[in-house]
Amino acid sequence: MTAKRRPLIAGNWKMNGLQSDGLALAYSVGEYLKAKEDPSFEMLVCPPFTILTATNVVLSDTDVKLGAQNCHTAEKGAHTGDISVAMLAEAGCSYVIVGHSERRTDCGETDEMVCAKAEAANAGGLTAVICIGETEAERDDGKTLDVVKTQIAGSVPGTATAENTVVAYEPVWAIGTGRTPTNDEVQEVHAFIRSELADKLGGDIADGIRLLYGGSMNPGNANDLLALDDVDGGLIGGASLKAADFGAVADCC
Ligand code: PGA
Repeated sequence: MTAKRRPLIAGNWKMNGLQSDGLALAYSVGEYLKAKEDPSFEMLVCPPFTILTATNVVLSDTDVKLGAQNCHTAEKGAHTGDISVAMLAEAGCSYVIVGHSERRTDCGETDEMVCAKAEAANAGGLTAVICIGETEAERDDGKTLDVVKTQIAGSVPGTATAENTVVAYEPVWAIGTGRTPTNDEVQEVHAFIRSELADKLGGDIADGIRLLYGGSMNPGNANDLLALDDVDGGLIGGASLKAADFGAVADCC
């Protein structure tokens, strides 16, 4: 983490959060941030679609940002079950996660689709949180950097900037498992991601883009992970569902 990039602590609630629990969680996160004087970091929560609007109301007097977990590429039309960027913006979102590994696996999302979603998000004024990361088999085969290189080439639009794009490195095998790469391994991949972004977008833009680590980040390991040079925050699943844990991670910034 360096002073030039403002850390982002992002909660990915996934398919968790019925109205009463979700709003109570959002309220607690909001109160946590309100109690911080001039925080050095930014906080984001990404609840399920059904409670975005209500969460936005709960967070209205706080600086906690609201994000969604997916979007469609089209502005509107015959796409049953999907949701547009304009709908998310109207619900109060300023961020949207795209290309999470669970969507790549569950819904067959390809790099090309993820890139199109990121472009649509940016066109609609939202910042895209683009997720990449290798599977366990790919890591065991020594292919981590190759996989990440291909995903950056395919998933990150050429129009990405430090304002409209965040990249989250989430090793698939670390998500929800309690396992993480070593700190050196995380820093190695993050530095590699930044150099790939520099080749693609130019050094100034790459220097400004925030790179989040995701995958079993929790209050016990966040301090070390967030201290790494090229880790500019976290995309946090399980530990974002308890306000005290989410706050304890943010306290490590
Ligand atoms: P986890 O999930 O923190 O529960 O591992 C992270 C994510 O999938 O974004």
